Amino acid sequence: MLGSGFIARFYADSLKAQRAKDKLISVYSRNTEKAQKFAEDYKLNFYSDDMEAVVSREDVDVVIISLPNNLHEAAVAACAKAKKHVLCTKPLGRTAAEAKRMLDMVEEAGIMGGYLEDLCYTPKFLKSMKTVKDGGIGKVLWAKSREAHPGPHSDWFWDHEQSGGGAMVDLGCHCIEIARNYIGKEIRPVEVMCWAATQVHPIKAEDSAIGLIKYANGAMGQFEVSWCFRGGMDLRDEVMGTEGTIWLNNFLRTGFEMFTTGKGAGYVAEKAESNSGWLFPVGDEVHELGYTNMFTDMFNAIENKTEPLETFYDGYIVNAIIDAAYTSAKSGRWETVQIEGWRGDETADNGPTTASYDENYYLIKKEILPSGEHKLILKHKVTGEVVVKEVE
Ligand SMILES: NC(=O)c1ccc[n+]([C@@H]2O[C@H](COP(=O)([O-])OP(=O)(O)OC[C@H]3O[C@@H](n4cnc5c(N)ncnc54)[C@H](O)[C@@H]3O)[C@@H](O)[C@H]2O)c1
Repeated sequence: MLGSGFIARFYADSLKAQRAKDKLISVYSRNTEKAQKFAEDYKLNFYSDDMEAVVSREDVDVVIISLPNNLHEAAVAACAKAKKHVLCTKPLGRTAAEAKRMLDMVEEAGIMGGYLEDLCYTPKFLKSMKTVKDGGIGKVLWAKSREAHPGPHSDWFWDHEQSGGGAMVDLGCHCIEIARNYIGKEIRPVEVMCWAATQVHPIKAEDSAIGLIKYANGAMGQFEVSWCFRGGMDLRDEVMGTEGTIWLNNFLRTGFEMFTTGKGAGYVAEKAESNSGWLFPVGDEVHELGYTNMFTDMFNAIENKTEPLETFYDGYIVNAIIDAAYTSAKSGRWETVQIEGWRGDETADNGPTTASYDENYYLIKKEILPSGEHKLILKHKVTGEVVVKEVE
């Protein structure tokens, strides 16, 4: 484990949970005292403030990167040099160029590069994706994902040089990948239009943003992110398909509500702003945030020599979309997503997915009125005339 902070502990909690056969062996932290504390808490045999010493150990098969964004590339380089599989937290890079170099490094070294995008592994997400893949909501037309909270917990997030940006690079990466999964990873993201602003904090980066991502098949992805939201962590997705709809609420108001005067109250959930009054706790946070399913998929992929659901290539595509979003936020225009070595389809938008009613008419709308009357609104395929047909 490289890093011993916030996400390193979430990951370690997940790896040490239940009766997992995967063993966390050693930890690197630049601060030896923190490394030692982490090693004691998780009963690890080895800790060090020397990253290479941890990565190159013989008993280490896989390295997990839990370091600030500006340190991901050097850590991936150390793993490539030592030929150790590497799992990197999000965002993969601060920019697409950085992410592409990381992708190239793992591919040249012949190691697995797993992208730790936990929100694409939550139980609700995996179940809803199965429905989408089985055709349960038809063609996905629009997929929106929102992540907003009162702002990150460490200084480096707020420093543009170390983080690479604000809420967009920090939270937008999750939302972009969630929407991209629903729309279909084989579909090319083409253009981005984005609004980004610094609404509250004295920082160079944006603390709020909204973006639209146009896909080659006509579908639209949307992200909404903020570090200014008050009241906890708002994690919601909405998907609209030709045959159905999905709404997911991952965190606040998930059906678990609790009141306490505050006596004896401690930690409630990530980014909860209070531990008294009416609260919205999360049952098993490590599982509900996707960490458990994510590590299972990653380690299975390494053992079976297959690809995990989320790879460094996916991390690179996400960074490419974020780059285009930053360009659009400045220009105020739709900006092209620049992708080097696209690996998906070249599908083009083939127009509206209109249903046929019979050989002469398209079906526009089926309606049941309060009077109980049923009617169909149809359009003639040749003349274009729109007509109403009463149904008995
Ligand atoms: N849901 C998620 O997937 C999720 C959630 C939070 C953070 N993250 C990601 O995890 C990474 C780490 O974030 P965090 O929240 O754990 O941050 P953190 O500040 O809690 O921990 C960062 C760790 O890196 C170490 N570190 C900081 N500066 C360093 C330096 N210059 N040299 C060496 N080590 C240094 C710190 O000592 C600490 O161990 C980031 O890339 C972040 O985006 C992912």
